[in-house]
Amino acid sequence: MIDITKNIATAPRRTKASVIRELLKITNKPGVISFAGGLPDPEHFPYDFVTDSVKEIMARKGRVALQYGPTDGLPELKEEFLKFLKKHEGIEAKPENVIVTTASQQALDMVGRLFIDASDPVLVEKPSYMGGLQVFKSYGADFVGVKLEEDGVSVTELEERLSWLKSQDEHYKFVYLVPDFQNPSGVTLSEEKRLKVIELSEKYDVAIIEDSPYRQIRFEGKAPKMLYKLDQETRRTSNIISLFTFSKTFAPGLRLGVILAHPHIVRKMEILKQSLDLCSSSLNQLIAADFLRNGVFEAHVEKVKKAYKAKKDAMVGALEKYMPEGVTWTKPEGGLFLWVRLPEGMSADDMFHDAIKENVAYVIGSAFHCDGSGKNTMRLNFSYPTLDEIDEGIKRLATTVKKRLAAAK
Ligand SMILES: Cc1ncc(COP(=O)(O)O)c(C=O)c1O
Repeated sequence: MIDITKNIATAPRRTKASVIRELLKITNKPGVISFAGGLPDPEHFPYDFVTDSVKEIMARKGRVALQYGPTDGLPELKEEFLKFLKKHEGIEAKPENVIVTTASQQALDMVGRLFIDASDPVLVEKPSYMGGLQVFKSYGADFVGVKLEEDGVSVTELEERLSWLKSQDEHYKFVYLVPDFQNPSGVTLSEEKRLKVIELSEKYDVAIIEDSPYRQIRFEGKAPKMLYKLDQETRRTSNIISLFTFSKTFAPGLRLGVILAHPHIVRKMEILKQSLDLCSSSLNQLIAADFLRNGVFEAHVEKVKKAYKAKKDAMVGALEKYMPEGVTWTKPEGGLFLWVRLPEGMSADDMFHDAIKENVAYVIGSAFHCDGSGKNTMRLNFSYPTLDEIDEGIKRLATTVKKRLAAAK
């Protein structure tokens, strides 16, 4: 019999299973309190709104909702999204600047297809979003990691890397950033550094991917302007490609997002999307357009922010209460995650199975590092577990850490 698996092409051969998705299989064990997923809290999905919206759409626009739509998105959603951009981000954009996607993961795939030839260097934060690393790797990216600091990516190191790549005539194409409440670290890029990133983008002719699913979930502090907006205000490089998604502000099951970019890029993305899925769900686009209309989005996001802030506070409180000395963590002003650093030399990878025995789970930090470093780090999600689970789960995690520390003595 012929073994057809040996005929599998290079890209899927290069694609490894997502560590998170593999870990989730273990962490779903009954009794385990999991901080491993990245799921929004289903308590806060707008069930009634969706029920009413679908009824209304079927009565008024059933023929559009159940039909194929234009590849770049339904005009109803594009129009509402452009109003949203103006109102919330002060960004002036036209319909040709935006394309609707089947959420941000598809947008990342399109970015990979558009820019990466095998062995091209791709600059990423260290740590970075695993789903981005996975997709870029499948297109043959050669990662160049840039360290992350408390106020976002190190612009000094970014410049050093770009300058070196340029001197080597390397085909670097883009820098991938998650600038707001980064997944995994919860860190936000300061406005000062954003301006520097734009300057570097111009100097080194490199696109900046601004992947920002968590931006609207800010529960404290003042938001720096989006890179896209700052570019419009300053250098007008048009090098910024911004990715939006409805996954964290509305519901990930909708699978809807938007790319905002220069029309040349949008047009190329549209051609790529034709072969990916022809178009995103028409019904879901009409629901999302409804969601953006008449303040529904704002009222909903306010509720989500309040709930997530309480959970973030509970997690930070529990870490302060239970964790032994030498363990540190970020205190994000928004988003879904915080980042824990164990004492140097201690491995969160090795500790993972001990944690599962204590019935608590996290994602190992090394999975987010393009070079496998960051062994003493872990990502904790606070949006999904309940307040009681947060307290009990952190207590169990602290017990695991203390046992390891004692064993190492
Ligand atoms: C930084 C980042 N980008 C993209 C995604 C993909 O999200 P979606 O495809 O649901 O929009 C996620 C999901 O967690 C993410 O954290």
